[in-house]
Amino acid sequence: MKIRPARSAGGRARPWYPDFHALWDRVLHEHASPLRVGFAVGVGVLVGCSPFLGFQVAIAALLAIAFQLNKLAVFLGLQISAPPLLPLVLFVGAQLGELVRHGHLLPMNLDALRAMPTRELVHLLFFDLLAGGTLLGLVLGTTLGTVAARMATRRASPEFRLSRDEMVQLGARLPALPFQLRQYARWKILFDPVYPVVASRLKGVRETLDLGAGLGIMAAVLVHRDPERRVVAVEWDERKVAGARQFLSGLPQIDVVCADARLFPVAPFESILLLDVLHYSEPFAQDAWLGRCASALRPGGLLIVREHDASSRGALAEGFERLAVKLGWNRGHGFHPLRTIDLVHRLESLGLNVETINNGAAMAGLTLLVARKSFAAGSLPCFLVQGDS
Ligand SMILES: C[S@@+](CC[C@H](N)C(=O)[O-])C[C@H]1O[C@@H](n2cnc3c(N)ncnc32)[C@H](O)[C@@H]1O
Repeated sequence: MKIRPARSAGGRARPWYPDFHALWDRVLHEHASPLRVGFAVGVGVLVGCSPFLGFQVAIAALLAIAFQLNKLAVFLGLQISAPPLLPLVLFVGAQLGELVRHGHLLPMNLDALRAMPTRELVHLLFFDLLAGGTLLGLVLGTTLGTVAARMATRRASPEFRLSRDEMVQLGARLPALPFQLRQYARWKILFDPVYPVVASRLKGVRETLDLGAGLGIMAAVLVHRDPERRVVAVEWDERKVAGARQFLSGLPQIDVVCADARLFPVAPFESILLLDVLHYSEPFAQDAWLGRCASALRPGGLLIVREHDASSRGALAEGFERLAVKLGWNRGHGFHPLRTIDLVHRLESLGLNVETINNGAAMAGLTLLVARKSFAAGSLPCFLVQGDS
């Protein structure tokens, strides 16, 4: 906790006591995107269902620091093991554990338990609670975390959430997708702030090139907001391209192209998006790719990049991404995040003015950068570079 200095720069006396107001403000607003709040509540619940009574607060605090979670939300989740609920959580956890480990429930009468030697009983209950508590924590944590994330989404300012009408329109497109892609798209639409944040930034922009477009959710949001727009969505994973074409059917303003976006011929565009995509390529290829995008932007155009920050302590987003690449869910040549500071320097060296948008990040370790080309700069008429993959 920081103690305020006795005097401010202007010489005005400052109170000697800790700034509780600033502290509370930080607790409320740190890592407060809906996804992070939901995850934090889920982690709190999971720890609250564990058998480490007496250590739960310390474990939860360590996890909150390690994964950069909103501490208040973790603490709220932990309340699952507050005194009135604790006996129920322990009972259900122990029974679930016994069921999973030995295929039957614990005896319901105390005499049967008392008849067991104390060491054996403690051992049995601890491991039952470990297994059952983890299972219970995962189920309750996912459920309550989802509820919390939804509540946080509703509370977020309009710039950071999709409108009800947009949700309905996107929701109506989901049944066109096969099961796994549908669930993935549902979660992304519900909880990833990148779509509303980027769409707000692109208000009035008529052309967008979305490189590494996945299922084309961003393209759908953009066209729903402004039907006069033209979007080209480039994706190299054939399964996702097929999904995107199904998801975006009936929207002739959007072209879905199956190609390596690094080699895609980039005609001048008003805006180019690289959302969660650069890190699949080696640093030298990222460099060339950024250069090509910057050249192809029209004067005044926007290059919007969301990326993992290699220098961030938030290993969670990185862990998810590495897993997604390993499982083949996201196709790429490994995982090569840059430090945000280096990415910003690279964009600036290309003559772009860079702004960081915190609330588009979704998870710790991600950064959303909006880079604008000056109106004085020129753009390439057409740009095609082959063979640097
Ligand atoms: C994490 S997903 C993000 C999708 C989308 N940008 C979004 O935010 O919804 C990254 C996508 O980029 C695609 N991708 C990666 N490298 C690519 C490349 N060189 N060309 C085309 N697509 C690429 C992957 O297949 C994956 O679908």
